[in-house]
Amino acid sequence: MSLSDKINELTIEQKIILQTGKDILRTAKIAEIPQAMMVDGPHGLRLCENGKTTPQVAFPSLSTIANSWNREAVWKMGEAIARQCQKQTVALLLAPGVNIKRHVLCGRNFEYFSEDPFLAGELGAAYVMGVQSTGIGACVKHFAANNQESGRLATNSVIDEKALREIYLAPFERVIKKAKPWAVMCSYNAVNGEYSSQNKKLLTDILRKEWDYEGLTISDWWSVDDRIESIKAGLDLEMPRGETRKLLNAVKENKLAEAELDTCCRHILDFLEKADKITQTKIDPDGQKKVAAEVAAESVVLLKNDGILPFTDDHIVVVGSYADTCRIGGKGSSEVKPLQKDSVIKQLKSAGKSFEYYPGYIINSEKTNRRYESEAINNSKGKTVLFFMADPDLSEAESYDRENMSLPLCQLRLLNKLSLVAKNIVVVLQCGAPVDCAWSKMANAILLQGLAGEYGSEGLTKILYGELSPSGKLAETWPLTIGSQASDSDFAQKKRNVFYKESIYVGYRYFDSARIRIAFPFGFGLS
Ligand code: BGC
Repeated sequence: MSLSDKINELTIEQKIILQTGKDILRTAKIAEIPQAMMVDGPHGLRLCENGKTTPQVAFPSLSTIANSWNREAVWKMGEAIARQCQKQTVALLLAPGVNIKRHVLCGRNFEYFSEDPFLAGELGAAYVMGVQSTGIGACVKHFAANNQESGRLATNSVIDEKALREIYLAPFERVIKKAKPWAVMCSYNAVNGEYSSQNKKLLTDILRKEWDYEGLTISDWWSVDDRIESIKAGLDLEMPRGETRKLLNAVKENKLAEAELDTCCRHILDFLEKADKITQTKIDPDGQKKVAAEVAAESVVLLKNDGILPFTDDHIVVVGSYADTCRIGGKGSSEVKPLQKDSVIKQLKSAGKSFEYYPGYIINSEKTNRRYESEAINNSKGKTVLFFMADPDLSEAESYDRENMSLPLCQLRLLNKLSLVAKNIVVVLQCGAPVDCAWSKMANAILLQGLAGEYGSEGLTKILYGELSPSGKLAETWPLTIGSQASDSDFAQKKRNVFYKESIYVGYRYFDSARIRIAFPFGFGLS
């Protein structure tokens, strides 16, 4: 007997309780029905309860591993994070996000793969297959057209059918058909006038009828507007909590058929049956570290090189606080509490390299620190400088968008001054989205490390010294400036309707067709 057969034994009240979560992490508690836990990814398990977060290996961001263009690497990372779930008996990993990068300033772009639906779909499928190879479920999100954070709870993405299908739904379709994720999470926003949480066209007509999806549909946290409508539209599980009395009245008043409730409950019970098979397993700490370091190394992109790399100089000067405290991820529900601080300085030391180090600036500050700055400049004269640049920690986050593409002023000023005295400058960028590179002429070489997780410095060091070839390629176009994208005219405008006027002309599709100059193209990367 399968668990979903138990549906006949449940009272209406129990069915109503079952279709909403018990708390932020768990499904409802009903006698004889197993409970399941679901926790955020995608960069590691973010298990946070009673104000306490369990530390885990922090893996590179999805925006970073997308630069690997390597399904196998992404699969491995998914598998490794699922091992973290197994250790904590978490049944469902709330990842990956496969939303399209419609605009370069979307705050959550670091959690997404690409501007290209094929690449996002392929890598999303690899991630899901990696997770699910262990018996843990993956939950693809945010379905659909969640492409900005500004006003995310209330905006309405207005999209023509061609763009909706070919750009915004395409990665989901690929993941669903190829990898069969256990769950799909709806987005907060509305699509063409209807909230995703109660959008029948998305949740039933397309997802279930066209794509033959058989898994669970869940709400984004607190995203349900009208629970009765959302049940009718095909949203099975409301998370993390929902109102139950209203539903009971709706059934009594024949506004909601018990059969409609049953459909949701069946999907929930099918999910719980799979979840119940999970057994707690030990984790292999070395294996975790190895995968995190490997995928980070695979994802480094060489954006410029006049021949200075790999280093042959006996001695280098390292400048920039991020060299010692690497920026490893973005903020929001995907933030993992790492086990350790990643430091390129530590790595260079243990690799026996000859170098001196100066912080140069203060992390998370726009202001120049005179002492740090002059110390770095005075010691860089005539030498080869390795300079680390990154945006403030809070610049890439959930629930708001980035304000601009510029790096902090103090870092730009310092680069300028260093370029007047140093023999050579190699810039390392630690960011999850494109930054303005108007300064690129001052650098002899530029490496994009991305948000590499807590074991990124090992591969980076090997790449700097030619022990490893940088093989990453950009998974998104780097525009020259804000104001050159087709989606500029309607992005983060603080109004309900967001008109996707550019239709399918997203990313390279637009820059190519309109012949717009860019900084680095989609797919670019030297070796
Ligand atoms: C985010 C989801 C996340 C959920 C649970 C929401 O705010 O949009 O991506 O899975 O919270 O933490």
